[in-house]
Amino acid sequence: MRKNIVAGNWKMNKTLQEGVELAKGLNEALAASKPNCDVIICTPYIHLASVTPLVDAAKIGVGAENCADKESGAYTGEISAAMVASTGAKYVILGHSERRAYYGENNAILTEKVKLALANGLTPIFCIGEVLEQREANKQNEVVLDQLQAVYELSAEDFSKCILAYEPVWAIGTGKTASAAQAQEIHAYIRSTIVDKYDAKVAENTSILYGGSCKPTNAKELFANPDVDGGLIGGAALKVADFKGIIDAFNA
Ligand code: 13P
Repeated sequence: MRKNIVAGNWKMNKTLQEGVELAKGLNEALAASKPNCDVIICTPYIHLASVTPLVDAAKIGVGAENCADKESGAYTGEISAAMVASTGAKYVILGHSERRAYYGENNAILTEKVKLALANGLTPIFCIGEVLEQREANKQNEVVLDQLQAVYELSAEDFSKCILAYEPVWAIGTGKTASAAQAQEIHAYIRSTIVDKYDAKVAENTSILYGGSCKPTNAKELFANPDVDGGLIGGAALKVADFKGIIDAFNA
């Protein structure tokens, strides 16, 4: 069965010291009881080696926000999937809309990244989602189907190791959330494309997270949808109380 997951994406926030404090605080907040979902924090690269040993691995998984599309070598400033894995991190966000928009990441690059992540034992959290003009033109299904081609090159076995995250760009950091009905509609569509590409069993077992202005106040309604298996959280992952509030949406 697919898992319910709440994953944080810290983006380019927090110094190393602040990040360590945030991870410690979350670890303490989850110490008393086991969350009713998998919890993942995706941090800047430089935090990974410090954060992984200080969180309880039974409750909190740690991931990177990106990795290189090359294995190793003369790529100044890049961080490979093997380097991420060597910190103890288990996950990596790939294809985030900010990477697509500001760093020119396309399907070909993302396929390479996903393959390298998997080859190094990392679980990709693969992001897809349309911009506002595409939503207004009712092109969201077309857009996500095209973005999914980067992972639909994988074998069923490898695809089954991936987590998907639907993040409408117009909802990221804007305070504008997709309605529960909008989220359910497109998540169900995404799942139907997995049935078409692989089969019903693979589709049934794939976790599809929602991201975009998810908060403690709207998480429960969003996660109650049958095809929404949790969230990928930006701003609200930067405060323990907010992130815990979203995790608790699976408790009630
Ligand atoms: P916000 O939760 O800040 O809207 O960000 C969502 C996101 O981009 C997570 O990857």
